[in-house]
Amino acid sequence: MQKEEKSAPSFTSKVGLVMAAVGSAVGLGNIWKFPYIAGQNGGGAFLLIYLLCVLLFGLPLLITEFTIGKHSGRSVYGAFSVIRNNNRWQWIGWLCMLATILVMGFYTVVTGWCINYLIDAISNTLYSSSDLTAHFTELSSNGPRMFGYSILALALTSVVLWFDVNKGIERLSKILMPLLLIMMIFMAIRVLMLPGSNVGMRFFFEADFSKLSPKVILDAMGQCFFSLSIGLGALITYGAYMPKHQNIIATSVQVAVLDSLVAILAGLIIFPAVFAFGVDPAEGPQLAFVVLPSVFEQMSLSSLSSIMFFGLLCIAAITSMISLMEVLVAFLTEATAQKKHSLDRHKAVLLAVVICVVTSSLCAFSLSGTPEWLKIGDKDFFTVFDTVASNFLMPLGALSMAIFIGWFMPESAIKQELRNGNRSTIHYALGFLFMQIVRYFVPIAIVAIFLNGVLSLI
Ligand code: PFF
Repeated sequence: MQKEEKSAPSFTSKVGLVMAAVGSAVGLGNIWKFPYIAGQNGGGAFLLIYLLCVLLFGLPLLITEFTIGKHSGRSVYGAFSVIRNNNRWQWIGWLCMLATILVMGFYTVVTGWCINYLIDAISNTLYSSSDLTAHFTELSSNGPRMFGYSILALALTSVVLWFDVNKGIERLSKILMPLLLIMMIFMAIRVLMLPGSNVGMRFFFEADFSKLSPKVILDAMGQCFFSLSIGLGALITYGAYMPKHQNIIATSVQVAVLDSLVAILAGLIIFPAVFAFGVDPAEGPQLAFVVLPSVFEQMSLSSLSSIMFFGLLCIAAITSMISLMEVLVAFLTEATAQKKHSLDRHKAVLLAVVICVVTSSLCAFSLSGTPEWLKIGDKDFFTVFDTVASNFLMPLGALSMAIFIGWFMPESAIKQELRNGNRSTIHYALGFLFMQIVRYFVPIAIVAIFLNGVLSLI
């Protein structure tokens, strides 16, 4: 495949690209998943290991994806072929496509829960049922209701994608991401003023190294992966839209810092609140949907807190869904470009929606247990999709990308992208360090996650 002149779509500003990438990274992974995984793994020790993973392993992979995307100017379908000038590496693009479809299946369902909870909080019905556990069980066992809310999540996402990337994704991210940060800081301050909140702070920041185990380290790596949107090409896709003079290393650092900051802010909201009301921080996935609303219920202005919290979750989830669906849209448009039935952006959005409706309905109905035959063995599709995508396909995608950039992409091309016209010693040194990390450290670390995935299944 020949490299073509870069043409639209493209972001118009550097800030726009950073905000869109942060929008992809900041999602349910930060606000819903991070606090409960940190809670189950001992708090402070987990936080420390997590931040180390972001530095040693997340950051190089962010740089990897942006470099592949920016240099090729293509979606995951054509990026590898353009760089190598043959189709031998195109399977990575298909792997990314498959991983994205599976993640969309369960992610859409959880986004649907968030929308449902936000509507309940606004209409003041969240606290009408006496028991919040029952409220959550009622939702997660009602297939048609979860499916309906998933469709709503998909509809909101596709409205944004309908526009060109600079008018839809870029403009929306520039408004929503700062708003999300402000709302989170406000909520954290409010929670920190609760009497007894210092116990939660201590739990989150005091590292108890007796809690450290190989499982904690591997969980932190997996979480870092999912949270930074690494391994399925979302950032290759956004990298292709990167303005020409944008610095890849600086952009990756900004994304990693902001994503970690949001995860820490989520911990600062959740742990002090949970401890102030004497709840167990290791409650698991229901921490955000059952425990937290009941904590809010005991605070003054409970409905305002719930509206803000579920509003935050909705914003974070939808901007991540946008990036996931953009992987599909860009793939479909590019893969059909030279074909008889080529798809323009609008047709590609519609086809992507149809694909996601199928996978999310499988997840919603299978999770609710009706019909009963909709399972793989004794496992529901929701769990299977999550496990296969997060524990296998995303690590495999990232492993392939690291090997590709470390051993097969021309080094001159990588240096050209990383130096970005800058010939200082520091840029030279960073480029050298990056190459050593993606060649040796990252592949070994990813194989470790793989083994964790396999062992957890046995
Ligand atoms: N990073 C998102 C989160 O933390 O919720 C999830 C995600 C989005 C993963 C986009 C992968 C992706 F391509």
